Amino acid sequence: MVLVTGGAGYIGSHTCISLIDAGYEIVVFDNFSNSSHEGIKRVEKIVGKKIALVEGDIRNRKDLQSVFDTYNIDSVVHFAGLKAVGESMQIPLQYYDNNVCGTVALCEVMQKNGCKKIVFSSSATVYGDPETVPIKEDFPLSATNPYGRNKLFIEKILRDVHRSDPTWKVIMLRYFNPAGAHISGTIGEDPDNIPNNLLPFIAQTAVGKREMLNIFGNDYDTPDGTGVRDYIHVVDLADGHVKALDKIDNFKEVMAINLGSGDGYSVFEIIHAFEKASGKQIPYNIVARRSGDIATCYADTAYAEDILGWSAKYNIDKMCEDVWRWQSKNPDGYN
Ligand code: NAD
Ligand code: UFG
Repeated sequence: MVLVTGGAGYIGSHTCISLIDAGYEIVVFDNFSNSSHEGIKRVEKIVGKKIALVEGDIRNRKDLQSVFDTYNIDSVVHFAGLKAVGESMQIPLQYYDNNVCGTVALCEVMQKNGCKKIVFSSSATVYGDPETVPIKEDFPLSATNPYGRNKLFIEKILRDVHRSDPTWKVIMLRYFNPAGAHISGTIGEDPDNIPNNLLPFIAQTAVGKREMLNIFGNDYDTPDGTGVRDYIHVVDLADGHVKALDKIDNFKEVMAINLGSGDGYSVFEIIHAFEKASGKQIPYNIVARRSGDIATCYADTAYAEDILGWSAKYNIDKMCEDVWRWQSKNPDGYN
């Protein structure tokens, strides 16, 4: 059975569907700090069966042990974590505690129970401000904020765990910019407060919840001056996790693998794609650059293709259509 930590969240819930579709049995472990039971109910509707669910915190070894006592867990897909870059600068200790200490507790309990396979949610943020694009996995690593340092530390911790006991199997998937929603329009990204990320903000503007989009700078060294990113459909990401689990036994070394589309799109290109998908106009303002943002970030995807046999299927138009279906059917998210 596969333990999915953070399985009630945005990427986790989509991955649960793909894992079940691929024939994996799963149990979700989540403390619902950034998700809702409603999301899990909707996943159950999509897959047509009940999902084993344990409510608990990854920092709590007792909570985790109870999962291993109840279920026969042989691998873990580890999504659980706090993920807001700006917030991580305000409450760094909570980020280190939740994300880093939480991962240490998880690995300890795994080791104690003889479960040594983990697929971890890393991020393109570990590349800092890269000197060139597309970004390859062997580029230098750095971080500019506590969230990024969490990911870097966790990557290092997982490498140390593997060094101490090479029977561990570790895959670290470095996501670029997750976007999109399930085709049903019943699950998707549901930010609690004002969205930090571009697509949820655009979607809330289109549905009338936000007045206008602030574009953070149009003076970058990019074709139209706005930031360029590699948006990757969440269902493609989910499929990447299935491929990672399918292949994890083949790898002797710790694997760090980019999951991106390989294409970069500017903020203006995303606005236009969303306007086409939704038929709505997105009013915008150009404002100052957001501190910590970089000009351009997109993945070299050759390694993922070679190692996992994985590449993105869905393009930016499909991401916008699916986000719009989710947002327009659920203007208040899961509430
Ligand atoms: P999310 O917030 O929707 O999901 C995370 C889930 O983990 C939530 O359901 C939350 O309740 C749960 N959780 C948090 N702390 C927990 C704890 N201590 N114990 C148990 N459960 C806990 O976020 P997401 O977008 O689905 O991201 C999933 C993972 O992918 C995170 O590790 C994130 O850092 C990483 N990631 C996300 C992005 C992105 O832009 N969405 C990009 C790169 C990497
Ligand atoms: N942007 C705006 N206005 C907004 C939001 C975003 O103009 O309201 C712009 C940003 O300046 C950037 C682009 O849209 O150029 C994408 O911004 P996002 O916030 O959606 O994504 P980021 O690339 O900044 O961050 C994402 C994840 C982080 C992760 C980072 C690097 O959200 O968790 O990628 O992997 F750290």
